[in-house]
Amino acid sequence: ALLDISPKPLAGRKIIVTSGPTHEPIDPVRYIANRSSGRQGHAIAAALARLGADVRLVSGPVGIADPAGVTTQHVETANEMKDAVEQLLPADAAVFVAAVADWRSETSAGEKIKKVAGEGPPALQMIENPDILAGVGHHRKRPGLVVGFAAETQDLVRNAEAKLAKKGADFIVANDVSHEGGVMGGDRNKVRIVSKAGVDEWPEMSKDEVATRLVALIAERLKTVVV
Ligand code: CTP
Ligand code: CA
Repeated sequence: ALLDISPKPLAGRKIIVTSGPTHEPIDPVRYIANRSSGRQGHAIAAALARLGADVRLVSGPVGIADPAGVTTQHVETANEMKDAVEQLLPADAAVFVAAVADWRSETSAGEKIKKVAGEGPPALQMIENPDILAGVGHHRKRPGLVVGFAAETQDLVRNAEAKLAKKGADFIVANDVSHEGGVMGGDRNKVRIVSKAGVDEWPEMSKDEVATRLVALIAERLKTVVV
């Protein structure tokens, strides 16, 4: 609007958002990744910015544009994402939407791994990546509000409740990713908000609508968080 006098409930709030997949290199031309378009995380970052927040988006490799009004940093690997997020602390809130690769190849070959006749495929030695959300959820500079996501194909609520406790989050946005042609890469989302207060089931809606509702919840919660 020409004259915007609407209140910005998140003005002055610094909020970290992770989005997209991570890419874990095997050699210069190959990597391991998760399925993630970055749409949900980017929509949340944009919606937070519309409410006036100082949004710091840490994005893995995605094929979509940086959201308007958001300070975006691009990373490739889980370790890079973790370093970028920790550098951004302290913050008022953090929202972890990224589909971080749980494992990486222990080594990344300096040269392209070649097929060798008779030798068969290379055996990758995998090691676990750091859990970025859990690190921040238990950090001495923990933001007042920490929100995670959970992508599950079974036991959605039970798994989300376990993640809530283990990772030190205030909310877990639980996503059923089991159905065909579902959430991953799509436009729509059906989530449950899991917190200590219980489980709130939201109807199916677009990822933009999920973002709008989630940031309204975040704004509401930050009102009552003592900073
Ligand atoms: N997450 C993270 N760093 C990781 C793995 C996950 O920050 N290395 C965050 C995700 O961004 C998400 C939440 O943790 O907010 C849950 O991710 P998910 O993959 O559902 O859970 P995991 O703990 O990795 O467990 P699993 O994949 O075995 O279900
Ligand atoms: Ca995982």
